[in-house]
Amino acid sequence: MAKVVLKTFEREQLPLVEPWFHDADTQRWLGGPEWPREMLDLTDLPLGTFRGKTQTDRHRWLAWQGRCPVGYIDCGTFDRFTEWEGGENGRGVIDTLPLPTASLGYVIRPELRHQGYGAAMLDIVTRAPELHEIRLFVAGVDRRNAASIGCLLKAGYQPLNDQPDWEGMVYYARLRTARDATNGYSSSS
Ligand SMILES: CC(C)(COP(=O)(O)OP(=O)(O)OC[C@H]1O[C@@H](n2cnc3c(N)ncnc32)[C@H](O)[C@@H]1OP(=O)(O)O)[C@@H](O)C(=O)NCCC(=O)NCCS
Repeated sequence: MAKVVLKTFEREQLPLVEPWFHDADTQRWLGGPEWPREMLDLTDLPLGTFRGKTQTDRHRWLAWQGRCPVGYIDCGTFDRFTEWEGGENGRGVIDTLPLPTASLGYVIRPELRHQGYGAAMLDIVTRAPELHEIRLFVAGVDRRNAASIGCLLKAGYQPLNDQPDWEGMVYYARLRTARDATNGYSSSS
């Protein structure tokens, strides 16, 4: 697997990342060039509740290979994982895993895709010292996003459900194991 180092993402690094959001796939699955700025703007807002779970922290990192920024990963942490049913007649929380959970969103620089960086980033984030209390790492993926699903599977995440939820999303998860601890982690902030 490719090797990357995670470093805290800072506002002055926005110009490094925003061009990645002109890419059609990034826009389709995450959003436009305003997305990383919106993530940063959340930093100073109070933590709250979302779909039956309480947010405990927020983190964001750039993944580097040497001096080259290769990806961005955003992470909200919560006191638990909930399966939510929304929409008309939605029942709200329909299942709960009472485990401290990290919810991940990510992008790899378009010209560097399919070289293993996505899988490497999803692997190394499980060993981030800031996430040492997290037991479950989760990413919600549109069932049509083959690249993201392939990348999650390669990094050892498995689907929590056979069927997509009310939004067409499947949640892929990886449990922290003793082997994960901080073993092999390389990062600075
Ligand atoms: C999803 C994304 C992060 C994957 O990053 P990546 O660095 O290209 O992924 P990897 O190289 O680690 O790929 C790992 C596996 O995923 C699969 N995969 C990668 N790209 C694929 C594609 N375009 N189509 C189908 N499968 C693909 C392959 O099985 C690959 O394994 P292999 O190299 O052994 O063949 C990247 O495509 C991206 O940034 N997409 C736009 C934003 C996005 O979709 N974010 C996720 C939102 S949930």
